[in-house]
Amino acid sequence: MFKSSVKIEELSEGNIFRVGVKAQSAELIEKFYEEMPFPNFDRFETIDDIHAKVRENKFTLSFKKSVGWGKKIIEVGSGTSQLSIALASGTNNEVVAFDATLGSLRLGAVFAKKHEIDNCIFINGDLNSDPFVSGYFDVVWCSGVLHHTDCAEKGFKVIQEWVRPGGYIVIGLYNSYGRARTLFRQLLYKFLGKSKFGGALVRLLDPVLRQCKSRLKNEAWFRDQYEHPCESLHTIDEVLQWFDLAGFEFVGSLPTCDLKPYDYENMFTKKNRENGFTRFLSQIFMLFSHSGSEGGLFLMLGKKKPR
Ligand SMILES: C[S@@+](CC[C@H](N)C(=O)[O-])C[C@H]1O[C@@H](n2cnc3c(N)ncnc32)[C@H](O)[C@@H]1O
Repeated sequence: MFKSSVKIEELSEGNIFRVGVKAQSAELIEKFYEEMPFPNFDRFETIDDIHAKVRENKFTLSFKKSVGWGKKIIEVGSGTSQLSIALASGTNNEVVAFDATLGSLRLGAVFAKKHEIDNCIFINGDLNSDPFVSGYFDVVWCSGVLHHTDCAEKGFKVIQEWVRPGGYIVIGLYNSYGRARTLFRQLLYKFLGKSKFGGALVRLLDPVLRQCKSRLKNEAWFRDQYEHPCESLHTIDEVLQWFDLAGFEFVGSLPTCDLKPYDYENMFTKKNRENGFTRFLSQIFMLFSHSGSEGGLFLMLGKKKPR
């Protein structure tokens, strides 16, 4: 799985490894998330809660069903790694939860051990150090991460190499249009001097914070959305271009490019990329949808063409 040149260190937990060297930017990110790992665990979270969370989200539910068994999957920037754990639990998939923040991985690793999930390993490292062998994974999933790196496109170029020909990549990024509601709240918070009052107002206005009952998850979301030192915005068209340049076939996006409802039943069937205007409208409509109220994350699914 690792390039022969990569230094690997097994940590005392047994299911956590540290690989390669982190760039300064990744060390800063680690410092940020060490204080409050994301998305964090509730104190009483169980494996059933994690499965329920996957079932609640139609995209992850359909993804877990469609991906099947016996696959090599990496979640890049897995944070506290709930998705990795869900993809491993009850399957014979070989799952890697990879993240720059050791403290986040530790929470996931302890949870996995407690629930005897031994087909998920936890690897601490910087994606830009490129520690994995080219074409090793059937699926690379990277959501909510690249927009927190120095250059999202550069990060994409690194991680797309890890997908085998015929394998899939899922990329989730903040959308330039769909994140407008969060951008407004960020501005408001900044304008109010990041004061206690500003924080309380934003907590009242943010639909995720209003609904989230877990104190730890609430705090993790607040910091991630309103205190993050590094954040960039992207569009469907930008990622389509990345796919084209890297030799990926566009399979689907959420929101869809043709304004039709997402076909969850046929996750890996190639969808229509339509035209620039429909894609623009689709991203504007995010503002009035669930994803717009949850921070404006859009997802892109691509398939690596055979060499
Ligand atoms: C907002 S969290 C997303 C966690 C998870 N993907 C989710 O959606 O719940 C971003 C994660 O990306 C990780 N990250 C950021 N830059 C990274 C890098 N260069 N290499 C590896 N992980 C990185 C952070 O440590 C953090 O855990």
